[in-house]
Amino acid sequence: MVIAANFKTNLTRYQTREYIASLEKFIHDNSVRQEVFVFPTATSIYAHDGNVNVGVQNAYPTKNGAFTGEIGVDQLEEFNIKTVLIGHSERRHVLGETQELITAKYEFYKNLGYTIVYCIGEPLNIREKGMDEMMNYLRAQLIGIDMNYENLILAYEPVWAIGTGVTPTNDDIVKIHSILRNSCKRPILYGGSVKADNAKEILSLHNVDGVLVGSGALNVNDFCSMINDAENIK
Ligand code: PGA
Repeated sequence: MVIAANFKTNLTRYQTREYIASLEKFIHDNSVRQEVFVFPTATSIYAHDGNVNVGVQNAYPTKNGAFTGEIGVDQLEEFNIKTVLIGHSERRHVLGETQELITAKYEFYKNLGYTIVYCIGEPLNIREKGMDEMMNYLRAQLIGIDMNYENLILAYEPVWAIGTGVTPTNDDIVKIHSILRNSCKRPILYGGSVKADNAKEILSLHNVDGVLVGSGALNVNDFCSMINDAENIK
């Protein structure tokens, strides 16, 4: 399974190093077989050699150039980063990224062979319109996205579940992931208020191939406990 931590705008460079060192120790000591990803802030990335895949939360579709505040391939290559998160709901709804820009990022990093964790999810007002409207909204976030890309990891993250402590019912997660499975043969992660105390249940659901965790992963022991849950699922 894929177990991923998105630090968002949390932890310093020093704290990130400590975190990843603890995580590496845990993975080594327990012979962990899961795929573990960490997405630190851009200022905390460094060339990491180990079992933890370190990725970035965002990158511009460029090698370099005049894009104030952004980072591109030159900066990623300096630290041997080959994994990028694209389409996260905070980039869409807080930072105002359009589907057009998101698709351009996807194509650009796909063509370079990056592992892409591509996020989709509906806001509450769409959810309240029922299943058909909701699936149409999610499908629109997949337009222009190559679902056959071999290094794609899809993450379904309902916007209303992110950072709120609320999650969909297990039945809903299974239903939505099963529909997504029709168009995606790659791993499908669930994200949104996954914590150490609900990870096992969510990871056990049909068609859930892993989790993308924000605040619940900021404490490394909690994150390790989720990895351990994944290890113990048949
Ligand atoms: P959360 O965030 O776990 O804090 O809800 C998940 C995410 O945004 O990826």
